[in-house]
Amino acid sequence: MKIETNQNSLQLEPKASDSFTSTGFILAAIGSSVGLGNMWKFPYITGMYGGAAFFLIFILCLALVGLPILLAEMVIGRGGRGNAVSSFHNLSKTKWWGYFGFLSVLSAFAIMGFYAVVAGWTMNYAFTSLTGNLFENPDYTASFLSFAGGNMPIFWTIITLIITCWVVAKGVAGGIEKFNKVLIPGLAVILVILMIRALTLPGAGEGVEFFLMPDFSKLTAESALVALGHAFFSLSLGMGAMLTYGAYTSKKQSLGKAAAAVAGGDLLYAFVAGLIIFPTVFSYGIAPGQGPGLAFMALPAAFAAMPLGNLFGFLFFFLLSIAALTSTVSLVEVPNAYLMERFKWSRAKSATIVTLIIFAISIPASMSMGILSDNLLFGKTFFDLLDFVASNIFLPIGGLVVTLFTGYAWKRAGEEAGLSGFWYNAWMFCLKYIAPIMVIVIFLYSIGIIKF
Ligand code: PHE
Repeated sequence: MKIETNQNSLQLEPKASDSFTSTGFILAAIGSSVGLGNMWKFPYITGMYGGAAFFLIFILCLALVGLPILLAEMVIGRGGRGNAVSSFHNLSKTKWWGYFGFLSVLSAFAIMGFYAVVAGWTMNYAFTSLTGNLFENPDYTASFLSFAGGNMPIFWTIITLIITCWVVAKGVAGGIEKFNKVLIPGLAVILVILMIRALTLPGAGEGVEFFLMPDFSKLTAESALVALGHAFFSLSLGMGAMLTYGAYTSKKQSLGKAAAAVAGGDLLYAFVAGLIIFPTVFSYGIAPGQGPGLAFMALPAAFAAMPLGNLFGFLFFFLLSIAALTSTVSLVEVPNAYLMERFKWSRAKSATIVTLIIFAISIPASMSMGILSDNLLFGKTFFDLLDFVASNIFLPIGGLVVTLFTGYAWKRAGEEAGLSGFWYNAWMFCLKYIAPIMVIVIFLYSIGIIKF
């Protein structure tokens, strides 16, 4: 296969309004990666798949597969200076790469379809913790199910989408960067307050032990695959988010350092989320392996029993909402950047159209918890199908395209990444061998072709 790179694109700098400052880029990328994945999904899968042993495998997956692909996405974006499709076209004459890039645009719609609904749930929980309504009915499972199955989530989904659209429409420097610069440090402050509260609860030690003392007998092949899949989702990989943000950075930015900071930041937020959730659930005698309901069904019981529980409940769900919003902004930017360039639309027009399409998808997703819960497609509700198709099919394919493109096709990746010697070789080794093999294995496993 002969690849010719477009040399000119390597020189371009974006316009000031379309570019991040160096810290802005790192904060926006951390904003994309830190989300419901860290605060809602990571604790419950850790609870289900073996506690600390799972956490260690997750760290390994982040380092060997996540970090190399993260850097590759940033490098393709900055090298190609385009969106998830055109960056590939700008770097290679082979059209196919870009066609696969188009999957990223579809993944963003599919993920947003359910992610915006869950983000809406967190906002409702923040609000009702504050007013105290959340604690009216002590059967938190029943109240979650009746809430999620009703119409209220649609209202909160609309709020999520309006805020996201507004930030995206304000642009890269004036919207996305400003939003993340305020919220990501704010998130850290709330996280520390909640961590101190959780660690000083009576019996917190047991939760910490569950989270940090590995018991390898609980580890299965399935937990390793779940850890790998989660490393992907948590770092926002395989769907062009980091690629799209990468296109807005200056040539002066060290992408290697930025990628390390983002992966480290993502891990730190997940770690602290674990130090909040496990001590809290153990302290109130709640089982940690409850699955997706952990945050919505188990934690309210703990907050209800805690002094100043309203306030801590509010802080916790507010934290989740903010983490979710900095991720939804990056999800919307992927199709937004594509449509703006493809159809020469203004940012505001493109952001509005993307938001309306997502809204249309999110309605049946939200109703999957209620009146559409019996309407199954391939044995899944619409909500679960969006998650399944995006996380288990589109993201791995997207990730594979990135590893193969950077590892085999595009020869100037090392130069763009500013890597040489040992780090370049280590990066290439992961991209050429470890990451594609691992990604193919999770892909085949998650669509049921291999079983353990
Ligand atoms: N990384 C985000 C999280 O952990 C989710 C996400 C996935 C965001 C893909 C953007 C793209 O919640």
